Amino acid sequence: MNNTWRDRAVQFDHLYTGEAFECNIPYFGTYLRSKLNQRLENALRFVDFIHAQKIIDLGCGTGTFAVKAALKGVEVHGYDISGKAIKIAALKAEKAGISDLCFFYEADITTVDFPDVDAWFDLGCLQYLPDISSVINKASTARDFYSCLAMKYHWLNVIRFFYRRVLKGNPYYTYTKKEIQGLFSLYTNVHVERDGPQFCVSSVQFKV
Ligand SMILES: C[S@@+](CC[C@H](N)C(=O)[O-])C[C@H]1O[C@@H](n2cnc3c(N)ncnc32)[C@H](O)[C@@H]1O
Repeated sequence: MNNTWRDRAVQFDHLYTGEAFECNIPYFGTYLRSKLNQRLENALRFVDFIHAQKIIDLGCGTGTFAVKAALKGVEVHGYDISGKAIKIAALKAEKAGISDLCFFYEADITTVDFPDVDAWFDLGCLQYLPDISSVINKASTARDFYSCLAMKYHWLNVIRFFYRRVLKGNPYYTYTKKEIQGLFSLYTNVHVERDGPQFCVSSVQFKV
């Protein structure tokens, strides 16, 4: 799985811009792109809502969210298994003039040690891991958490299945609302909200 991500993580940028081949599929492409950009906007709104000063971005990819969050003045620690994606993320931060606020690490989030932060963000990384409970439990020491996990029993899973099996895409794990509530049992004020093919999970331990 990790080898696949080392190359594919870079292509993920093209989904946001609409250059990826999936984006050319009528209806589906527009749907996918709008859902991704909506996820990004929601996460950025959450950054504002919790008045975050220092955050972790799990599976930050090429830094799309990390750089936008840092432009708000937040210190971001982004982790990704793909060295190629990490290099692009660092370059984006440099171009945006916010390298002093962005710290990018080529690392496996299941084994790395994390710094203390206000909040952890997961924009579509955890759903690719077979066992996410240890990462989620580790993050419970932070004040707040924001995650997006793929929904079980959604029509998009048929396409996900095809992508995984036929196109040899990355394995993907889906969840019910109840399963997510179980995974986040160590957290307080957990809010699980359906957003199209995914669940947005947020936990605000206290508001500033
Ligand atoms: C769907 S992409 C999302 C990228 C980014 N969060 C975004 O929204 O643009 C998932 C990312 O998780 C990363 N990833 C997958 N498994 C990982 C692991 N065990 N440790 C760190 N990163 C991982 C991949 O390399 C990829 O960049």
